[in-house]
Amino acid sequence: MPRWVPLVGGVLGSTTCGLLLYAFSVFIKPLRAEFGWSATEVGLAYAIAVLVFGLMTFPAGKLSDRFGPRPVVVIGGAIVGIGFFLTSTIKTPFELYLYYGLIAGFGGGLVYLPPIATAPKWWPDRRALATGLTVVGLGLGSFIMGPLATSMINTFGGALPVFRYVGIAMFFMAIIAGLCLSNPPPGYKPAGWNPPAPKAGAPKAGRDYTFGETIRTVQFWMLYLAYFCGSFAGLMVIGVIAAHGINEMTKEAAALAGVAVSALPEEVTSAIAMQAALATSTLNAANAIVRVLIGAIADKAGVRICFLVTFVLQVAAMALLFPVGKTLFLLCIIAIIIGWNYGALFTLFPSACLQYFGPTAQGSNYGLLFTSWGIAGFVSNLIAGQMFDKFGTYAMSFTIGAVFVAIGVVVLALTKPPRRLAA
Ligand code: 2OP
Repeated sequence: MPRWVPLVGGVLGSTTCGLLLYAFSVFIKPLRAEFGWSATEVGLAYAIAVLVFGLMTFPAGKLSDRFGPRPVVVIGGAIVGIGFFLTSTIKTPFELYLYYGLIAGFGGGLVYLPPIATAPKWWPDRRALATGLTVVGLGLGSFIMGPLATSMINTFGGALPVFRYVGIAMFFMAIIAGLCLSNPPPGYKPAGWNPPAPKAGAPKAGRDYTFGETIRTVQFWMLYLAYFCGSFAGLMVIGVIAAHGINEMTKEAAALAGVAVSALPEEVTSAIAMQAALATSTLNAANAIVRVLIGAIADKAGVRICFLVTFVLQVAAMALLFPVGKTLFLLCIIAIIIGWNYGALFTLFPSACLQYFGPTAQGSNYGLLFTSWGIAGFVSNLIAGQMFDKFGTYAMSFTIGAVFVAIGVVVLALTKPPRRLAA
């Protein structure tokens, strides 16, 4: 099999997951309008999907290490497509939780993880770049799904048909992704490539860590904590950045006009809503592009320096996000920086995991590491809404996010690769 084929599988599989996850906010308003449910009721479906998706990556990685990536992704692809399709038939919040949150989230986790563990095995010469391509679709899918779903909702007059048609597309995309994946033969090296000679004084190459050995290292749990911190902040912003812009820009417009927010004319508030949506799109675009670019950079400069630069930048961006909310241009610049640093996580953490513990148990190792994202997503979704209800702005949520990323900086600065194991 040519070695670009698993990359195609990775792009297709991750785009399916992007369609599933990051554009969910587009559905909130139409579902509420159609069924009269509260924002919290609808939002809970997303929190469930993120949690189930994040927790399923662990069994997905274990199964992929054991049976190979293909059956896991093909079965997961069928499940995610069916779950999304069935969401088009919902009548109660429970059905939304079951079909979207539980079934589609379950299938999504099975589709997401195996390509990340597989593609870099075919690209030992460009591991981080290959990893980036297996996750690029999370950004890409959400970038496509936002405008696509919005225009379908306008055409069909509701959100449910979107789940039907996009669910069918997801079913086929993810199954084809699975068919593109298989592990290379043991000891595979691309033609004409030899591993670089170890630097003078470097420890002799040893064997890979087993899963049991990996989880007994302190480095694994430090990566886990840093991943939790970075994901927590990013996910909290992704869910609310448009709402934050609307909130602050309407207050500013009302202050300039010398009227109450509720007295602003409808044209002004809807123009502000459209402008604020731009912040989400720019964030999504940066979230997609970075995944490949940071992979190319990390292959040259090393994962560690990329980690430190992106985490430090993210602390600054999180701290600035609240004050820039009333100025569209600045809000979009900060959105780009936040999307960039957030998207970088999904290339850098699998690359670090691979570099620290080796490819043998990468599916299980990274599958477990990624559960930190699922837990962070579930908690951050619940907290962001509650903080807003309590304080009337997102200032507190963003401050908490900045503190978490700052903890991530310290943890990553202290994390060094584990020692090599004797062969
Ligand atoms: C990602 O964006 C799913 O959050 C994960 O790659």
